[in-house]
Amino acid sequence: MNDIENYLQKHEERFIRDLCEYVRFPSVSAQPHHRKDLTACAEWLLGRCQKIGLEATLCQTAGNPVVLARTPRKKSIRRPHFLLYGHYDVQPPEPFDLWKSPPFEPTVKGRSLFGRGASDNKGQHLAHLNAIEAYLKTGTELPCDITFVIEGEEEVGSTHLAHFLQQHRAALRCEAVVISDTSLLGPKYPALTYALRGICAVEIKLHGPSRDLHSGLFGGSLDNPAMALCQVLAQLRDKNGRVTVPGFYDDVKPLLPSERKELARQPFSERAYQRFLGVPKLFGEKGFIPIEQRSARPTLEINGLTSGYQGEGSKTIIPAWASAKLTMRLVPNQTPNRTRKLVLQHLRKICPPTVRMELHAGHGGEPYFVSPDSEHAQAALRALRKAFGAEPVLMREGGSIPIVNDFKKILKADTLLLGLALPDDNAHSPNEKFDLDMFARGMRMSAHLWQELAAATK
Ligand code: BES
Ligand code: ZN
Repeated sequence: MNDIENYLQKHEERFIRDLCEYVRFPSVSAQPHHRKDLTACAEWLLGRCQKIGLEATLCQTAGNPVVLARTPRKKSIRRPHFLLYGHYDVQPPEPFDLWKSPPFEPTVKGRSLFGRGASDNKGQHLAHLNAIEAYLKTGTELPCDITFVIEGEEEVGSTHLAHFLQQHRAALRCEAVVISDTSLLGPKYPALTYALRGICAVEIKLHGPSRDLHSGLFGGSLDNPAMALCQVLAQLRDKNGRVTVPGFYDDVKPLLPSERKELARQPFSERAYQRFLGVPKLFGEKGFIPIEQRSARPTLEINGLTSGYQGEGSKTIIPAWASAKLTMRLVPNQTPNRTRKLVLQHLRKICPPTVRMELHAGHGGEPYFVSPDSEHAQAALRALRKAFGAEPVLMREGGSIPIVNDFKKILKADTLLLGLALPDDNAHSPNEKFDLDMFARGMRMSAHLWQELAAATK
């Protein structure tokens, strides 16, 4: 480990420069005009992998390419094999005007590197890549084989990755999958995340008149689709923060008292949290603490709401249509298919006859839950302790990584979620950043991880 530590120290500045280069690519998977940037970004990553001595290929899919990179295999010995998953695509950077430095011009301030994708997820998987570089360049024997699977469609639901896993099933067979794409609570609170919420996306559009109409000439004699949409959406949640879609909670597995007790032990201040979010008052499902509300309870959210005139000044119209993008976050044992069906059915039922409703089903991903008691999870906890010098926290988190259930179904492998993102990294928000100390710790954690995981594999 000494050689590795020295190597990581010696190359620290170059690792930061590399991350800046990587963050410079506007690899926004949701926006079709960035398609070429995604390919360019994947090619950059491919180059990095090859440079450090990995056998790397760019695999085309029906969507954005997947970078597949494996540590050189020793034919004579059979070693345990682990996958390291990450994603090089990023969320849209909008609204631009709220960024203090442009989203794709990485900027280092103190120990933070600002840029879209710095934390979610480029910096996090680069930390692992740097640890492997340290092994390979110092000639330190790796105790296991590792294959990097870095995709370009995570932020839009990993649409083509399950098929890719099927196709490469044999080459990807492994003991476990490692992902650093979740959070930790701070340098003194590294974390192993043992549950993620699932997701299910729906778009709704209400059509009214055949064109925008003068609201003075016609208003009052026909329904306003924007108003109708607000009324429909307002019926989906009650004042206690409960989703009112019939059957929505039927499959929800109640939280065990022991688990609730454990979650309540996490360091958390409601006041600091409220201030951090910038809201005048917190709101959530009654009967649950915020940690539970945001990680272990299902929700229905409006992600975007569009209708009518949005430009400067005023315009007096009845808009021709109104639309909204909705997502439901799911917990065990809800499924995206059943939830989608319930929500669509309910929307159809409550839609007034004065507008025409158009519904589109979007991506979906199942919730994930894995026991933190397994040998591999215990090995991961040891690696966290060594790298951070602190006792790890066991967490449930509210975000989704849709592919983890496919790793289980297709490769029969559990996933270890070892996040490096701090709670104030602003993932999906303006001014996303990655903490360079977490970057450094992440590399050390990765270096220890492969030793621990290999030793824990029978
Ligand atoms: N890194 C996140 C997921 C995450 C973040 C999990 C923090 C737990 C804690 C990932 O990149 C993400 O944003 N996923 C999307 C998936 C969706 C678009 C299908 C999400 O959760 O919104
Ligand atoms: Zn994300």
